[in-house]
Amino acid sequence: MFRNDLNWSDVTPKAKWLNRRQIMAAGAATMIAPRALAASYSTTEKPNTFEEITNYNNFYEFGLDKSDPARNAGQLTIDPWSIQIDGLVERPGNYDLADVMAMGPIEERIYRFRCVEAWSMVIPWNGFQLSHLLDRVGVQPSARYVSFETLFRPEEMPGQRQGFLDWPYREGLRLDEAMHPLTLMATGLYGEPMPKQNGAPIRLVVPWKYGFKSIKSIVKITLTADQPVNTWKRTNHREYGFYANVNPNVSHPRWSQATERRIGGGLFNSREDTVMFNGYGDQVASLYSGQDLAKDY
Ligand code: MTE
Repeated sequence: MFRNDLNWSDVTPKAKWLNRRQIMAAGAATMIAPRALAASYSTTEKPNTFEEITNYNNFYEFGLDKSDPARNAGQLTIDPWSIQIDGLVERPGNYDLADVMAMGPIEERIYRFRCVEAWSMVIPWNGFQLSHLLDRVGVQPSARYVSFETLFRPEEMPGQRQGFLDWPYREGLRLDEAMHPLTLMATGLYGEPMPKQNGAPIRLVVPWKYGFKSIKSIVKITLTADQPVNTWKRTNHREYGFYANVNPNVSHPRWSQATERRIGGGLFNSREDTVMFNGYGDQVASLYSGQDLAKDY
């Protein structure tokens, strides 16, 4: 289902290329690397437009094509919404969305977003740190992982009436990944409530991992002792692992992960080099010290 995208790099016009390089050189002159992350956790790169972010989506509950979520997600009912939080927590319960959203301060975070299909965007999310939610519900000492589930409602999610994935969509993080300050529960983008095609009303965003980890429309969060099974690993464990850290050195079996195409870069945009941990290595590399990331892919 995932597929590599077209490569426009061989037709990049010089003027456009030069312009980009000049902008990058200007950044370097002021000692700001073009991909540097501000201390606020936000990237200094230019965000994609609202149009781009909401019309080129993966949300297989609404179809296989990138345009299907924008076309089909309108029928999703997102009010009322609650999240079941259970497993190894001190205060399990079925929490109303409003109560969940009050668990941490909502911030704007402009994050780089890298899909496993080798395209990327920059997205200005609004959300709060998952760590705040976990602190509120109280993590028991024996918990080591967090698992997430998307809504299962085939009446409103046409993709779920077909069996190409094992529904509901599931994802998981190790507890230290979930507690990392970069890990967001996102409730909006560009200051608007989360568009349905982007995972309304609340979704995960883990910017140093391939996009499939960032599960949408969450209805269940469970703290576990054992590593949870995630949908894509279950579907094809040779191609998709549990960690899914962005890694230009480990190819997908069917395509390279060394470069990426920025959505909205125009008809002639060139491919850019993919950066280890999607550029968040300074913040997250220490989580994986001693791990072989070619094995733990
Ligand atoms: N979450 C659910 N429930 N269903 C999905 O199909 N697709 C994932 C992820 N979360 C998906 C999901 C993939 S493959 C990507 S790349 C991102 O969502 C896309 O997020 P975006 O459409 O907001 O860019």
